[in-house]
Amino acid sequence: MFNRNHRMKVLFATLIIVTAMAGCAKEPYRDSAVEESVATKDAPHTLDVFHIAFAPGADETERTFSWHTRGMNKKGVVELSQLDEEGNVLSSETFEAAGEGILRGFSSHKATITGLEENQLYSYRFGDGHRAWSESYTFRTQATEDDDFNFLFFGDPQIGAGDGAQIDADGWDRTVTTATEMFPDTAFLVSAGDQVNTAHNLKQYDGWFFPEELTFYPIMTLIGNHDYTPFADYFNPPNETGLGADDAGSDFYFTYGNTLFIALNTQRNNIEEHREAMELAVAENPEATHRIVLMHKSIYSSADHARDEDVLAFRDGLVPVFDELDIDVALMGHDHVYVRTYQMKGDAVVEEIAYDEAGAAVDPEGTLYLTGNSASDSKYYDMQDSSVYERYAAVALQLEEPTFMNVEVTDDSLTFTTYKTADQSVVDAYSIVKVDSGE
Ligand SMILES: [Fe+2]
Repeated sequence: MFNRNHRMKVLFATLIIVTAMAGCAKEPYRDSAVEESVATKDAPHTLDVFHIAFAPGADETERTFSWHTRGMNKKGVVELSQLDEEGNVLSSETFEAAGEGILRGFSSHKATITGLEENQLYSYRFGDGHRAWSESYTFRTQATEDDDFNFLFFGDPQIGAGDGAQIDADGWDRTVTTATEMFPDTAFLVSAGDQVNTAHNLKQYDGWFFPEELTFYPIMTLIGNHDYTPFADYFNPPNETGLGADDAGSDFYFTYGNTLFIALNTQRNNIEEHREAMELAVAENPEATHRIVLMHKSIYSSADHARDEDVLAFRDGLVPVFDELDIDVALMGHDHVYVRTYQMKGDAVVEEIAYDEAGAAVDPEGTLYLTGNSASDSKYYDMQDSSVYERYAAVALQLEEPTFMNVEVTDDSLTFTTYKTADQSVVDAYSIVKVDSGE
């Protein structure tokens, strides 16, 4: 066991609406497959809600939710309240869920909340549309007016791939807690896919949802090769394009501040559909200063998956599209290793790069490819021979310990810094500065 997030403890202790944050150490996560719903039996006005997927929405004024309730609750609502800094409710609004479904013993609900203002404290709770409500959770929106924000990127948690779901969940929790303590004002988190090892294993999903920070910080999840159809039961991405689609979902996109994020479903290798989705996202957001692709399968990595047939096919197909659409960076997972490429264009290293005094690449050509390591400590892959990756990898490290990446965004720069969870030491840092940022 480990200490909880002290910053959040201080914050939540001031808010009487928050009911679940007292105490000094986390209990092991609960097993939704066997847990009895005490709430619905003994307290009919309390709705037992679990698997709360709180995620970025189509832009910074929206958030999406997916949540599960025990039993056959056909209706679901989210009540959003704006709070003052003392936690008093200023106003409330209710949003109806859409896309309810009945799963094995529980109900799935999805909703989107809109109209969020920057730098505000909010609370949310879930209802059944009648009298029952869940407990309340808080979150804070960040300021976007000056175009500066940061987000945190986590490589495959893959709960259940290591020494047991509880151990993997503890590792995942340690990294999420460490990262958000270090960057408490982070706008959101990204999980690089493969949330769990076995898609239909509820215990593993309970482990993925274990970090309590995930009700406070929205997290965007990518579709990995271990996620399959249940992904759609647990998550609710914005702007789904229907392109690159399978039963788990499709390519989707969102903006936050000045940046466009395009998430590709690498379970489908239809390059033309991925191209169409990316072109659509760019056309819908022509004003975005930065363009970032998020995708599970790394197309420039250094470990067991580096030479997979599908990976090489994605590289052949997607690199020309990234070049055409001026994608700044692709953030990827799947290979459980940390890799930062050189600036790449046309599958070749961009040779001429200017650096400023701080060492940042100035207006570099091409795209940067970053592969996230394991955030949970559940699994690591062996490195290939260096001849496989030395052509494109500026840094390739199999640390065999968990890390996370912080991405700082300003109006004219992107900075990627990877930290070890254990001691928060810097593994690698790289910056791009756009001096001639007309594009
Ligand atoms: Fe994977």
